[in-house]
Amino acid sequence: MSETYSPGLENVVAGETAICTLDTGLVYRGYSIEDLAEHSQFEEVAYLLLYGELPKAQELTDFQERLASYSVLPVEIPKILAKLPLDTMPMDVLRTGVSLVSHFYPESPDASAQERQAHAERILAAVPAILSIWQNRQNCSEMPPALEFSGNTYYLARNFLWQARGVMPSNQEVKTLDLTLMLYAEHEFNASTFVTRAITSTRSDLYSAIVGGIGALKGPLHGGANERALADLIEIGSVENVKPWLDRAFAEKRRIMGFGHRVYKHADPRAVVLARHAKELLRGPVDESLEHVAHAVEQEMLTRKGLHPNVDWPCARVYHYLGFDKPFFTPLFVMARVSGWSAHALEQAANNRLIRPRSLYVGPLGKKWRPLREREN
Ligand code: SDX
Repeated sequence: MSETYSPGLENVVAGETAICTLDTGLVYRGYSIEDLAEHSQFEEVAYLLLYGELPKAQELTDFQERLASYSVLPVEIPKILAKLPLDTMPMDVLRTGVSLVSHFYPESPDASAQERQAHAERILAAVPAILSIWQNRQNCSEMPPALEFSGNTYYLARNFLWQARGVMPSNQEVKTLDLTLMLYAEHEFNASTFVTRAITSTRSDLYSAIVGGIGALKGPLHGGANERALADLIEIGSVENVKPWLDRAFAEKRRIMGFGHRVYKHADPRAVVLARHAKELLRGPVDESLEHVAHAVEQEMLTRKGLHPNVDWPCARVYHYLGFDKPFFTPLFVMARVSGWSAHALEQAANNRLIRPRSLYVGPLGKKWRPLREREN
């Protein structure tokens, strides 16, 4: 097998997958993201990723009923989370929360694919529950009880908005959050998914793989970009300030969060779909101004850098319009991506080969060992 040296594994094909391809636009298990975004809901997409095909009606109802039951966590978990410092970042709370779930529902050694799928469902339901617990803790509010599952669609999005904010969400809000979950659900061998597969390849458990994915997604070059994208927009503040702000950023060789992509060298199809829906949530002139500034930044980035927005750019504004603070943006990305991570972990385990690349050694050779007394000079 010949060796390929490529920093960051750029353009390296590191394995096979039947879950997602970006080669012909974004496709999940053969379905285009545009089709799924237009006609489907997140639970259907999560089921498609985990089980390989869109669910039939009864399969979807059974799946949502299981998720609804898993949304109620063991009583000890909110008590333990309440011991964390109040200023703990929600991404770090998620890392702890998913680990806590694994202590109450441990994966058995050499777990079967079926058992792992059950754990994947439990994690899928636990992430929004953990985030709701934390949002209420930060608001010093009582967490409302989970909604009864009564066959309503968009259960995860609706129940999450209800429990996290304490008010029943509008259908527009539910459908837009659900759309972000479908768009963020899966994206081939991105950094956090590759970490999930690498952990799985050692035959570790699904919870460890998901916690690893959370750690990788937190970084601002990956999932953390959506939080910074909004901060930048607010800092720019006006259309007039776009050019001078970007001039300074380029002079400092800064990356503009929410733009560019390792694979997409043209528009990120998810950003195109989502940008159309962001406008449906505007709450008034301040939001409208943010849209104008965002549009002006997009024009400048395209003209001066040839860079298009990625999914994080419109998504940051959608989460802002839904009333979430920036530290909750990447955790909302996790709420979706746990479905893709779990699907990849299951696929890796089903046809496993330990992931162990080589490295190009650039350090010294042939150095002679010296005792301490001879190292002073
Ligand atoms: C996600 O991989 C996935 O699929 C990830 C994701 C998923 O769903 O899992 O799609 C989610 O992570 C989206 C990306 C979110 N991150 C950001 O928005 C952070 C900002 N973007 C950049 O850091 C960058 O575009 C990356 C990291 C996304 C991709 O970078 P690459 O492929 O490593 O490209 P590069 O850094 O080598 O840049 C190539 C050139 C450079 O110019 P030169 O220095 O060679 O002259 O493009 C420039 C860069 O300066 N460039 C940018 C830029 N992105 C690239 N310049 C300014 N702002 C940017 N955002």
